[in-house]
Amino acid sequence: MDDAIECDIICLVTLEAGKRLGPYEIVSPIGAGGMGEVYKAHDTRLDRTVAIKVLPEELSDNPELRERFEREARAISSLNHPHICTLYDVGCEDGVDFLVMEYLEGETLAERLQRGALPLDEALRYAIQIADALDNAHRHGVVHRDLKPGNIMLTEAGAILLDFGLASLRKGYGGQASLSSVSTRAKPLTEKGAILGTFQYMAPEQLEGLEADARTDVFTFGAVVYEMLTGKRAFEGESQASLIAAILEREPTPLSSLQPMTPPALERTVSKALAKEPDRRWQDVGDFGSELQWISEGGGLAVVPEPSHSRHVLPLAIAAIFGALVSGLAIGP
Ligand SMILES: Nc1ncnc2c1ncn2[C@@H]1O[C@H](COP(=O)(O)OP(=O)(O)OP(=O)(O)O)[C@@H](O)[C@H]1O
Ligand SMILES: [Mg+2]
Repeated sequence: MDDAIECDIICLVTLEAGKRLGPYEIVSPIGAGGMGEVYKAHDTRLDRTVAIKVLPEELSDNPELRERFEREARAISSLNHPHICTLYDVGCEDGVDFLVMEYLEGETLAERLQRGALPLDEALRYAIQIADALDNAHRHGVVHRDLKPGNIMLTEAGAILLDFGLASLRKGYGGQASLSSVSTRAKPLTEKGAILGTFQYMAPEQLEGLEADARTDVFTFGAVVYEMLTGKRAFEGESQASLIAAILEREPTPLSSLQPMTPPALERTVSKALAKEPDRRWQDVGDFGSELQWISEGGGLAVVPEPSHSRHVLPLAIAAIFGALVSGLAIGP
């Protein structure tokens, strides 16, 4: 089609303002990611602003991929949770496939993290909301598979999860689903950044090309919580190989080395989410969320190690400071 452009990773479609996709009129582009472009649009039937994600052209040419997409879309549209971006509609006009979703105002967590770590109370508040959203999705049989700061929007209503289930479509485009697919890809220079970006939040089993399950979301969510608390990525590498090695083999720098006021219970909770073996992680993201909730309420402070010289004073001081830090939770959204 004439308004399609070539790109390195997949074929993206670009749409001009005023272009109609059924009842939706494109207003302006918002951003682009690995799976297509996102536009602000107007729903002329319901007279409301929506966000439209235009999917790459390959979808229409591949019946297996289309079926998978439609199955995922049905599952996602059944999710109804205050911290999950609502999917309103899916459509196809003139060979352009698109998703219509709730339009969210705010910034992504990725944008927020460029300014550094979040205060403890804020990080815990968002983490509890995301855990609840993931738990709800898992109970409906939907695994996110592509949790990362760019897929979390921070709004006045709190953290909202975007792009549920879309990662499963990447496999169909040959788009970095596992190490085996990467090893066959060409053009390393132009694609290096994209591959690094995609790998950054993958769980070990995803890198090994195994099927993602709810525990895969537990790992990637653990990496996101780590980054909210520290402002640093849980796993880093200067090359693709060293990043992969870090995810597969290395433990992240302890939270308390980067943030000395981290409660020990929080350190243990996040480490358990980041276990390499899925069997050793939180098996249920709801349990991970309950633990975060308990910590946010000041739980776990009794286990602060007591240095011999200040046996009574230090734990009390830490409890008081931590209590002050998390007190915002009671009144936050
Ligand atoms: N529902 C929405 N409401 C408002 N803005 C949105 C919405 N969905 C996405 N965006 C914006 O569009 C940008 C691009 O989103 P997109 O999902 O295409 O990219 P990404 O998350 O970086 O990559 P990926 O394809 O891996 O998800 C986001 O960074 C966000 O700013
Ligand atoms: Mg996204």
